[in-house]
Amino acid sequence: MPYRLDGHSQPDLPQSHYLDNRIYTDPVVFETEKKTILTDSWRFVCHASELQKAFDYRLVRVAGHELVLIKGEDETIRAFYNTCAHRGARLLRQPAGNLEGGRMTCFYHLWSFDNRGRCLTVSQPSGYKDSSVRRESTGLKEVRLDSVFDLVFVCLDDEAGSLRDFLGDSLIEAMRVPFGSASLEVFHLHRSEIQCNWKLFVETNCEGYHELLHLLNRNTAVSQQEYRSRQWRMHENGHLSFDPAKISYDKLDYAERAEGLLPGMEPNGHAVVNLFPDVMLNCRSTVIRIDSLIPVSPGKTILECRGLGVAGDSQSVRDMRIDHHNEVWGPTGVNLAEDIWAVQTQMQNMKEGSSRFSVIAREEEGPMSDGSLRNFYAEWSRITNLQPHHVEV
Ligand code: FES
Ligand SMILES: [Fe+2]
Repeated sequence: MPYRLDGHSQPDLPQSHYLDNRIYTDPVVFETEKKTILTDSWRFVCHASELQKAFDYRLVRVAGHELVLIKGEDETIRAFYNTCAHRGARLLRQPAGNLEGGRMTCFYHLWSFDNRGRCLTVSQPSGYKDSSVRRESTGLKEVRLDSVFDLVFVCLDDEAGSLRDFLGDSLIEAMRVPFGSASLEVFHLHRSEIQCNWKLFVETNCEGYHELLHLLNRNTAVSQQEYRSRQWRMHENGHLSFDPAKISYDKLDYAERAEGLLPGMEPNGHAVVNLFPDVMLNCRSTVIRIDSLIPVSPGKTILECRGLGVAGDSQSVRDMRIDHHNEVWGPTGVNLAEDIWAVQTQMQNMKEGSSRFSVIAREEEGPMSDGSLRNFYAEWSRITNLQPHHVEV
């Protein structure tokens, strides 16, 4: 006799409580996301500490476009398409560095541009004397850039609202500890290419039910009385925060996080904020992890993980933060590897059609409710105009 819930038949649930797994695999869905959510939203690209000196630059990728972020001599970070105004060659080719003299020279016909995108030289300009091409009216296409608490965002849509409107007052307040309380600095960045749709990784970062996967969380959080009162808070525009709580590191053989606390954080405190669509800010008392995603194709995503401490940390405090970071996160930490393992197995089964529907039907109060996932998909649907429970193919 067929089961009512078998991953293949349409679940007998309200439409908001299950997902058509083709939202993860269908190329048309992915292209729609690229043209909507991934282009119109403000997307986190780096922390301001990653561009320290004048003319420091780094290349970032947003909705398939490569952008260059450059810090000017006026301390302002600007973003441009990494595309020459002449005939579209790739302007900068190293992932990060410092521009000598603040000048970018295209390798193809040697046009050059300054750190504000203004054209400095057009090679052999006499050839243009009978056309309207003039150095003074030539430059790089700038992209909107803004930051909150040194988190740097860009938006490809010139018509979208401001970053502050996108994040909203209540979420900015939830980010204040620790992001608004100290001058922070990135000490770790790694990228992983994960074989899954970007939304599967978002989901693992914004639901508490899967904490059962992690031995660390089972022992230090889920089994503790206080854990049950943690709630996901929904903010406008699809953002989320997870109530701060204390983690019982003593239940496993992990060092307590009682010294070198980030400003405003409690000993052994834990706080999470999720920025729609694909960024997680995760703080464990002494150290911060920022996850952000670069969706490449329906089944491939680049995950960027940053570790942050306080700018000017002494060597011993920084070493402690790095230890705390790497114990749980980092490429050799336990939790990140477990999450990637889980989402890649989901993707493999969804790709083959071995799993057609997913259930997001938990209604309880507390951290294991699926309300956070339903909130994500309500916003996803509002922006893409697609139905998460049914994909037209
Ligand atoms: S494409 Fe850059 S100078 Fe020609
Ligand atoms: Fe996890």
